[in-house]
Amino acid sequence: MSQRTVTLKFSDSDRTIELPIMEGTLGPDVIDTRSLSSQGILTYDPGFLSTASCSSNITFIDGDEGLLYYRGYPIEQLAEHSDFMEVSYLLMHGELPTAEQKVKFVDTVRHHTLLHDLMGSFFRGFRRDAHPMAVMVGTVGAMSAFYRDSSDPFDAKQREVAAYRLLAKVPTIAAWSYKYNLGEPFMYPQNRFDYASNFLYMMFATPSEDYQPNPVLARALDRIFVLHADHEQNASSSTVRVAGSSGANPFACVAGGIASLWGPLHGGANEATLTMLEQIGDASRIGEYIRRAKDKTDSFRLMGFGHRVYKNMDPRAAIMRQTCHDVLNELGLHDDPLFKLALKLEKIALEDEYFVDKKLYPNVDFYSGIVMRAMGIPNSMFTAIFALARTAGWVAQWMEMVASPEQRIARPRQLYTGSIRRDFLPMDQRG
Ligand code: SDX
Repeated sequence: MSQRTVTLKFSDSDRTIELPIMEGTLGPDVIDTRSLSSQGILTYDPGFLSTASCSSNITFIDGDEGLLYYRGYPIEQLAEHSDFMEVSYLLMHGELPTAEQKVKFVDTVRHHTLLHDLMGSFFRGFRRDAHPMAVMVGTVGAMSAFYRDSSDPFDAKQREVAAYRLLAKVPTIAAWSYKYNLGEPFMYPQNRFDYASNFLYMMFATPSEDYQPNPVLARALDRIFVLHADHEQNASSSTVRVAGSSGANPFACVAGGIASLWGPLHGGANEATLTMLEQIGDASRIGEYIRRAKDKTDSFRLMGFGHRVYKNMDPRAAIMRQTCHDVLNELGLHDDPLFKLALKLEKIALEDEYFVDKKLYPNVDFYSGIVMRAMGIPNSMFTAIFALARTAGWVAQWMEMVASPEQRIARPRQLYTGSIRRDFLPMDQRG
């Protein structure tokens, strides 16, 4: 079949420009606009609503149908049958690991969980009340100074070691940022535990008593990691790709991803959602907050609701709601007032024409905070845990970007709306 094209026709001249159409394996076709700049034309798309920034084999999202696939596998099947280590391997290598590959991968990650001993003192430069995300941005970025032998993005072996170090050490950094807030001693990673159990250990164990992670909570936390592992070209993954496109080292790139994820419109929404539920407090006040969310003069938004791509239920939110049930039942908290409030808020919002018309549904951040709070994880750590899990996706996206023959430095242009040329004004002619 011949190359499909689209023709741009200018209304004020006979000029036409023919552009090729590119087709993926799933999802919308794209118009290849790369040739436009050489013809003096740019496209305009602040926020990238209609822009494919790259081609990728990693994650597919269908916003209308509410589908999410990691390397072709539906998130529902991975959440049910797989685990975070397997999913990390899948995202990075493109296939589910064999039993032998999984043992080797998990063992390699396990043997990278320790931090360089000097990094412990790095934490002590922060105020005790530093937000864990501030500590993570700084400390993950500082990994560039401690692991220079795995910083060259153009060396395949160094890329592989950096990937293991990030996957293995970010949980240690996240847990230690929590311990630092508490003023409790850092708990070193334990190779006898699986990935999620090890994180619970580093978060909640103390040197003065034996701590055994609850296996049901560990399984639930591992599932939360799976749900957050990757999500196509979201703001933080795009940040990692843009940073990486200049040849920046992987630790600096992931630090940039953590910084972007922190925003309340992105990964910070899980912390903001719980704060919102605590502010609403009681079902009798839901109407007031729904009204505020719809009021254009009010900056309040229903946190945990809406999504740039999903115009249907975020499939992760449905799995997270079920995980909520499982964890609250395990902990004997099935009457948790915040969970009941969240269920009521979801029901009312989904029956309100504003949310229905704008196709605003609960997203991954709506229930995740309730689950993590029930596990004893403080609100301030919710986004740090999102960052921990998304490190797998950031690393996979970065590896794909660095290896891509299409890749060039990301350098968007602009529509200039400032002053036309003018001459310098001496001081006595200003004002
Ligand atoms: C994540 O991109 C990803 O994949 C992200 C993520 C991932 O895994 O990486 O899925 C994780 O970040 C999930 C999103 C978490 N954020 C929140 O829950 C914050 C609340 N949601 C919104 O701020 C908003 O929905 C965004 C930021 C998620 C999406 O913003 P868009 O796509 O730019 O949409 P928009 O702001 O232009 O909203 C469209 C309309 C607007 O009304 P109109 O101007 O058309 O009249 O919907 C309204 C908005 O005012 N709207 C909301 C709303 N979200 C959108 N109104 C009230 N409450 C909301 N939550």
